Amino acid sequence: MSAQQAPADFHEQLRRLEERGLLVRIDRPICKDTELHPLMRWQFQGGLHESQRKAFLYTNVHGVDGRKYDMPVVVGALAANPEIYATGMGVPVEQIGEVWTRAMSNPIPPVSITNPPCQEVVITGADLTKPGGGLACLPVPISTPGFDAAPYFTATLAVTKDPETGVRNMGTYRAGLKALDRLGVRMASRLSGAGGYQHWLKYKERGEKMPCAIIIGCSPVVMFTGPQKLRIDEDEMAVAGGLAGYPIRTCKALTVDLEIPADAEIVVEGLIDTDMLEPEGPFGESHGHVALEGFNLSMQVTAITHRKKAVFVSIVSQVTPSESSVMKKVAYEPLFLNHLKKDLNVKGISRVVMHEPLSNLRPVIFLQFKQGAPKTEVWRGLQGAATLQAQCGKICVAVSEDVDPHNTDAVFWSMAYRSNPIEDVLVIPNRAGGHGPKGGNNSTLLIDATAKTLMPPLALPTKPYMEKAKVIWEELGFPTLSPQPPWHGYELGDWAKLWDEFAENAVQGKWIENGLNTYERRKPDLIPETPVRKVEDVK
Ligand SMILES: Cc1cc2nc3c(=O)[nH]c(=O)nc-3n(C[C@H](O)[C@H](O)[C@H](O)COP(=O)(O)O)c2cc1C
Repeated sequence: MSAQQAPADFHEQLRRLEERGLLVRIDRPICKDTELHPLMRWQFQGGLHESQRKAFLYTNVHGVDGRKYDMPVVVGALAANPEIYATGMGVPVEQIGEVWTRAMSNPIPPVSITNPPCQEVVITGADLTKPGGGLACLPVPISTPGFDAAPYFTATLAVTKDPETGVRNMGTYRAGLKALDRLGVRMASRLSGAGGYQHWLKYKERGEKMPCAIIIGCSPVVMFTGPQKLRIDEDEMAVAGGLAGYPIRTCKALTVDLEIPADAEIVVEGLIDTDMLEPEGPFGESHGHVALEGFNLSMQVTAITHRKKAVFVSIVSQVTPSESSVMKKVAYEPLFLNHLKKDLNVKGISRVVMHEPLSNLRPVIFLQFKQGAPKTEVWRGLQGAATLQAQCGKICVAVSEDVDPHNTDAVFWSMAYRSNPIEDVLVIPNRAGGHGPKGGNNSTLLIDATAKTLMPPLALPTKPYMEKAKVIWEELGFPTLSPQPPWHGYELGDWAKLWDEFAENAVQGKWIENGLNTYERRKPDLIPETPVRKVEDVK
């Protein structure tokens, strides 16, 4: 994919996805309540490779009550896979991390405009509560039919403002339909939870309701700041500008005092109660369990505005991998690597990988270190990853550069042969519960599974032999291979020239020469399996 400017609105994103074969139109009738999310779900549960996933644009949507919607619904158009996310950034996949790092240090403030596209259609006053009106006009899908208590907004940016400093926050928080003009909004109150919740506490203190505008769909770079964990005193709209490389267009909301993305698809404005909380949920959560009913925020809707040709955007979340975890993974990993490299100056750190399938990124983090990284730096890295955010890094494992953290089998192999639990494992008490069904006191597990000394080679045929065999494999018309690292042998420092000579002789059919050499070196009075290097100086 060649680099181009990030799409300025969601329609441009859909156009580019379609051009790249990353979007599928589904024109058959689909029920938003029972079929829409489950169909998308098969892309994640059906054994497809990540690269085969597409955005699904549903053009013929109805509700379980038979109501037909003109507004199409799209799922997966933000991040069904990293390529789709990269399309939203206007860069190739490999540059996503770099662009995030640059944007965080070079934010570009937004510009405010009038007559914004997001206010082409305005629903206020009595139209919010007339039968079938208000929120019921929108084709809001049910994410986890069978468990969820309502249709939910998922591709959200909840815009709020600090009542003291005026600094804006934008967070992706779920919001469930409660009435034609009321939503149940969940802003996490745990440590390093939602920035919007910090604002809510301030409005509560002042005895005021909190103005909030929930954006559903806008330019991907703006959407991408929603799940990213930025500092509370940082304007996410300016970081979005940094991601795009140009200022984001904003406008005044109609009924609340907030500046919002002007090019949004749909905006739901309202006031959040700071006195009364309302039961919200159950809702299928990204930690892999259903969140049970909890008292959460209640938002009285004051206006719904949208583009004339709005698309309803939804995110597939719940059990990972999901669109939600792809979005978080590509954004969080550079944040952590940046912290370890730039803030803590950890020597030898080369990569951070957050474990995605089922565990949802936050609890399990792998750090990759260059060969020979000092042990003290490995431990500083482990501590740094475990403490950057209260909710991330419950289990941190350091591995060497030859172990691909995406291959958890390789990580287990490394733990099995390169760590000695009594020396290389540390359990630290008193960690916050984090995101998950069980709160309460938790702890941290750090494991140094890096190679501490030089090690013998990986026991597979070396690269040229595996490559030649692959050519034969293909000649024979066997099933297409997708090589899984490690797929060839390589040295890990502990080796001798003599053994290279032996191996070379062997592949030239001269193994008898090796036998002559070893016959000369026979020794009496040894126990079998005595390493030769204990007795001889093998070069
Ligand atoms: C699809 C999706 C749904 C999410 N739902 C919630 C939610 O309901 N409540 C919440 O506090 N965080 C939720 N998150 C995580 C937050 O977006 C994330 O913690 C982010 O950092 C919040 O931004 P903030 O730091 O500006 O609050 C969700 C993330 C995604 C991608």
